[in-house]
Amino acid sequence: MATIILLFLLLSALSTITALQKYSNITLGSSLSPKTNLSSWLSPSGKFAFGFYPQGEDGFIVAIWFAQVPEKTVIWTYNRDDPKIPSNVTLQMTTDGRLVLQPAEGQAKAISTATDSASSASMLDSGNFVLYNSDSDVLWESFTSPTDTIVQGQRLLAGSALVSSTSRTDHSTGRFMLSMQTDGNLVQYPASDTAWDKSWYAYWSSGTYRAGDNVSVNLDKDGHLYLLNNTGFNIRNLSAAVSPSDGTIFYRMTIDVDGIFRLYSLSPRGNWSIKWSSTNDKCSPKGICGLNSYCTLMDQESVCRCLPGFDFVNQNQQMLGCGRNTTVDGCENTTMSLLENTVWEDESYTILSSTNIEDCRLMCLTDCNCQAALFSNLKCRKQRFPLRFGRRDLSNPPTALIKEVGIRKVTTTNEPKANKQGEKVLGIEILITSVVIATVAFIVLMVSGVLIYRHRVWVYHQLSDTGSIGLNEEITLRSFTYLELEKATNGFREEVGRGSFGTVFKGVISNGERIIAVKRLERVVDEGEREFRTEMRVIGRTHHKNLVRLLGYCHEGSNRLLVYEYMCNGSLENFLFKPEKYPNWDERVGIALNIARGVLYLHEECETQIIHCDIKPQNILMDEFFCAKIADFGLAKLLKPDQTRTFTGIRGTRGYVAPEWHRNLPVTVKADVYSYGIMLMEIICCRKSLDMELQEDEIVLSDWVFQCFEEGELSKLVDDQVVDKKRLERMVKVALWCIQDDPALRPHMKKVVLMLEGTIEIPVPPGPTSFLSSI
Ligand SMILES: *[C@@H]1O[C@H](CO)[C@@H](O)[C@H](O)[C@H]1NC(C)=O
Ligand SMILES: *[C@@H]1O[C@H](CO)[C@@H](O)[C@H](O)[C@H]1NC(C)=O
Ligand SMILES: *[C@@H]1O[C@H](CO)[C@@H](O)[C@H](O)[C@H]1NC(C)=O
Ligand SMILES: *[C@@H]1O[C@H](CO)[C@@H](O)[C@H](O)[C@H]1NC(C)=O
Ligand SMILES: *[C@@H]1O[C@H](CO)[C@@H](O)[C@H](O)[C@H]1NC(C)=O
Ligand SMILES: *[C@@H]1O[C@H](CO)[C@@H](O)[C@H](O)[C@H]1NC(C)=O
Ligand SMILES: *[C@@H]1O[C@H](CO)[C@@H](O)[C@H](O)[C@H]1NC(C)=O
Ligand SMILES: *[C@@H]1O[C@H](CO)[C@@H](O)[C@H](O)[C@H]1NC(C)=O
Ligand SMILES: *[C@@H]1O[C@H](CO)[C@@H](O)[C@H](O)[C@H]1NC(C)=O
Repeated sequence: MATIILLFLLLSALSTITALQKYSNITLGSSLSPKTNLSSWLSPSGKFAFGFYPQGEDGFIVAIWFAQVPEKTVIWTYNRDDPKIPSNVTLQMTTDGRLVLQPAEGQAKAISTATDSASSASMLDSGNFVLYNSDSDVLWESFTSPTDTIVQGQRLLAGSALVSSTSRTDHSTGRFMLSMQTDGNLVQYPASDTAWDKSWYAYWSSGTYRAGDNVSVNLDKDGHLYLLNNTGFNIRNLSAAVSPSDGTIFYRMTIDVDGIFRLYSLSPRGNWSIKWSSTNDKCSPKGICGLNSYCTLMDQESVCRCLPGFDFVNQNQQMLGCGRNTTVDGCENTTMSLLENTVWEDESYTILSSTNIEDCRLMCLTDCNCQAALFSNLKCRKQRFPLRFGRRDLSNPPTALIKEVGIRKVTTTNEPKANKQGEKVLGIEILITSVVIATVAFIVLMVSGVLIYRHRVWVYHQLSDTGSIGLNEEITLRSFTYLELEKATNGFREEVGRGSFGTVFKGVISNGERIIAVKRLERVVDEGEREFRTEMRVIGRTHHKNLVRLLGYCHEGSNRLLVYEYMCNGSLENFLFKPEKYPNWDERVGIALNIARGVLYLHEECETQIIHCDIKPQNILMDEFFCAKIADFGLAKLLKPDQTRTFTGIRGTRGYVAPEWHRNLPVTVKADVYSYGIMLMEIICCRKSLDMELQEDEIVLSDWVFQCFEEGELSKLVDDQVVDKKRLERMVKVALWCIQDDPALRPHMKKVVLMLEGTIEIPVPPGPTSFLSSI
């Protein structure tokens, strides 16, 4: 008993001492310095501190952390990716009311973004660091710019995101993001900068897509984590209340280094414990294992494994992915290894029907471009390295075939014994092709059930929720009657566009549920119904997220109408050439890549190759998520003979057509590559390929681009936005390759995509022939 009283006295004595050091109101002229006894300002109860937090050897960051627990948990970091701060820097609340970092010599750097000068600052007990003006209004607060954590009472507002830290001790930007989107959905993505069209890579979502544009994440004092919509309705509970809200237990929600976000409570004893987590599957965050490696669970922990024939790039940091020293480029002396039950991102350049795995194996072995193949659901998907987002999946797995060099003597590689899931990696020799093994594998595959490979499993806004066509929907075209379409479009009243084939009208079907675009073909050849249906079927079978979907058609007498999904944001042209609507740099990069993927699909991945013949911004439509989709493909064959691809008539649009159209040369997919290159320049520069109002050397965009490229003055091409110089150069180089005069010099679309993504090196392009001289 006496001891307890003594302890109590001691504790209260200690807390009075600490109380003397409280800096609840930080006045002008105060400062902090890393290596002194005054390196942080505490909140009134001493729970939180703001100031210099040690990081690495001899370095500091400016942060807010829990000061009362042994493990001083950081909840906010200032400019997390800045270099570490040396110990001779001070943090000052200047006499003129600015919060700055002052190096030993040189310019001070402002921490707050407030423009007015502050009259005091305060580290609050809520964990918020606030600057006030003389009227005690809040000028700036740390709560509005969270890093990887929100604490109880703090909100994650629409349009903001949390990004995980690199590691538990390094608080710089890590690999995963939790984004509160303005479409109402709370979504997790890999945070890497190469994932431009992030929506494909989402691995968790709250499923509250379309809940309004102002949904926020809220965390109450009782540990209740939920989403509120604009009008204050609770639209989704993530975790139920954990404790009474008497404030004895403190809560925080953090997106952890491993990509999972968790709710933690701080017990009075000073230990954090997990109260809820977004998933228990530690392999689910996409990109948890790097390129050419896959994630597998061992005792609920994630472990990365390399593809057969690959080694970790860094043995000590296995999540960085795998590589190999030998390059397999070609088809000679190669074998295929089998890797079962793994799922990968599907970046196939060709999908072929294949009756069994042996068939698929041969398809890849004999194709010098093929480096790996995924076999599932009687489809063989040929891929090139790197393979991404791999994970073991015992439920619904395709089988991966990996091409290797040379004849591997070992046919079975046993994995370490520790592996309890009995993974097997087989190396199959080509020369003694074991038909038996293949047959057995095939039977096992058949027996193991329905192998529906969920192509692109995650779409961030759950398509099924919205009632629009899901990715797996059977591709069937509906045949409409003319009367139906006349009714749907209200007598063809609202014209939304006019193209080379005819006029487009807006309409609604399914009792007003679905908005459609009806294209009335006006200049097409009067072919028989059967031919028309054949063409429709070819278009109907195309199925790609960067192509506008054909939903149905009408063929009655001389009437030919096509029914497409409606794209509410109109054409790319509406954005590119209007200064007030210019897409920002990241959007431009995303648009360029999306279109390239769509064209690639038309050229190489769909069953019947389709040459678009008229790629230009007017034929690129933008959907509600600002995702670019190609329109008007597959119609070239329907045009009247004088407009089709005869060697004399020119399809396409002046400014975008490839020189071979003018030279009576055969037209191939490379003509589309040319048009794409011209359009890519327009996307980069947000201007038309020909603009007579500019100075003479700028009139022809391709010439101007090449001139700037040669002079190393690429920044002249873009507006003042901060752009990624390297990516700009990469895009310009790709565009210059695409517009080469000689079709053979132009890259195939697959290569264009790889170059844009930065997967392969881009050689310096030769100069283009002048646009004007090629006419
Ligand atoms: C601290 O500053 C706030 C806002 O300026 C003020 O309302 C409060 O009275 C001050 N508290 C103390 C103890 O000076
Ligand atoms: C900090 O240390 C200096 C001398 O080392 C001492 O004079 C000063 O009182 C200390 N300040 C606090 C708040 O303990
Ligand atoms: C401050 O510290 C850094 C790193 O320790 C050092 O490079 C720099 O020279 C120092 N500046 C001054 C003025 O001492
Ligand atoms: C969004 O919601 C938050 C909280 O419900 C509210 O404070 C804010 O004003 C709202 N913003 C808009 C633009 O409606
Ligand atoms: C918020 O949610 C409620 C209940 O689901 C709904 O009635 C209301 O319309 C929503 N508010 C907004 C602005 O979406
Ligand atoms: C969330 O949980 C609370 C109780 O904690 C309940 O009242 C509310 O209806 C739930 N909301 C939803 C959308 O499920
Ligand atoms: C905190 O948790 C660790 C591990 O869970 C345990 O070893 C330690 O005793 C706990 N400390 C307290 C104060 O509860
Ligand atoms: C690849 O090369 C590195 C060094 O160049 C070597 O350490 C490693 O063992 C090699 N890996 C293979 C599979 O040969
Ligand atoms: C294939 O292997 C044979 C025998 O090992 C060798 O002679 C030949 O050069 C190899 N071919 C290639 C292209 O590596």
